[in-house]
Amino acid sequence: MSVQEYLDKHMLSRKLEDAVNAAVRAKTPDPVLFISNHMKKSVQSVITKVKARQILDSRGIPTVEVDLHTNKGVFRASVPSGDSSGMYEAVELRDGDKGVYLGNGVAKAVKNINDKISEALVGMDPTLQSQIDQAMIDLDKTEKKGELGANAILAVSIAACKAGAAEKEVPLYRHIADLYGKVSPMLPVPAFTVISGGKHAGNNLAIQEIMILPTGANRFVEALQMGTETYHHLKAVITEKYGTHDCNVGESGGFAPNVSSFREALDLVKEAIRRAGYTDKIQIALDVAATNFCIGTRYDLDFKSPQKSGQNFLSAEDMVELYRELCNDFPIVSIEDPFDKEDWEHIKRFSSTGICQVVGDDLLMSNVKRIERAILEYACNALLLKINQVGTVTEVIEVVKQAKEAHWGVVTSHRCGETIDSFIADLSVGLSVGQIKAGAPCRGERLEKYIQLLRIEEELGDQAVYCGVDWKQ
Ligand code: PGA
Ligand code: ZN
Repeated sequence: MSVQEYLDKHMLSRKLEDAVNAAVRAKTPDPVLFISNHMKKSVQSVITKVKARQILDSRGIPTVEVDLHTNKGVFRASVPSGDSSGMYEAVELRDGDKGVYLGNGVAKAVKNINDKISEALVGMDPTLQSQIDQAMIDLDKTEKKGELGANAILAVSIAACKAGAAEKEVPLYRHIADLYGKVSPMLPVPAFTVISGGKHAGNNLAIQEIMILPTGANRFVEALQMGTETYHHLKAVITEKYGTHDCNVGESGGFAPNVSSFREALDLVKEAIRRAGYTDKIQIALDVAATNFCIGTRYDLDFKSPQKSGQNFLSAEDMVELYRELCNDFPIVSIEDPFDKEDWEHIKRFSSTGICQVVGDDLLMSNVKRIERAILEYACNALLLKINQVGTVTEVIEVVKQAKEAHWGVVTSHRCGETIDSFIADLSVGLSVGQIKAGAPCRGERLEKYIQLLRIEEELGDQAVYCGVDWKQ
């Protein structure tokens, strides 16, 4: 091909002339930079390669990280993983070879991305999120994404979402809001984990998490300060009462004092809030994760105690009464999984009291059919959204729509095994969910979410709206 033929084929003279004219019209002080950006914008972005690798989550357990390449850049995402898993959620693909990472390797999921998914997505426009997600769902062909692995699919879906935002030259939360079809992003109220128990810590406390919600803050930056100050006061309260060894932290960064009852733990938190000077401005939420200590029809509050006496069993009716008393004596506004995940009868009964927000986590497993049932039966009134239980960004948006249409609250959630990916921060702003739980205000993988929310608030400037007292959305 001659030089002239090459120039004609790519219409180079014409394109260069257009770019120079645009620079002259804009009277830009840096015409070379302007022209290069102008030319870049005129190239349609496509996915050129998807490359995955095995990394480790915050517990030291393998998970998937992916680099999605377009002709405009490289976009990275990684997926979290949790303790609780159930038969209704999307399948996390693990290798099962006990000789490697105790069976937890994700080499198969990585290979699925590098071979099958990459091949299917190359050439696609990264702004077309639903088409990308559908292509992976079609390739997988199973109901719960067990063939390719939901860990593989979600990592790619998130990376594509980041690439789509970059292609549109908008912040990630804005792109997510567009995908949802909504225009007013809002900053969620953070639920900071301050005390850890249950499966997340080695103390005797049955309940999994006690969280604090700075609903009385005016801005997210203030909420972060209030939560963090209270967290440090709590450390002092625990040290005074039990000594420094009870200030060890659990998987999500909450302190794990060896308290023997819900009430004893809540007293510590109440005192910390008082010392921090935030009484009436900070409220409390619980994640009971009661499935972990339900034995038959009873709840074993001593399920982790080495001196198990078998005396500390409560019936579901007793649990309702306990929650009623605790909500009366402490500023508790939300309780997650107050009963076993199959105990629909009691969760319904408790929700009908209207005492507080009732969040379904293990009850729902972020599963469309379980949510549908819970809506029909008035079983709970908020969704705990674990994106890796769903598997694609498009389906996450659908699930949030489903919950919001039922006028439920939505809590975007981290998992106990986290990475430094802060996608859920942008997700919660873009979908205006109102609440995010991402662990304690300490430890890098937890903070990355909260710090991303700070950055978003800063960027939105005067337009930033913190949900505050409207956290139920
Ligand atoms: P996980 O649960 O340990 O399964 O991540 C967190 C939660 O129960 O909210
Ligand atoms: Zn939970």
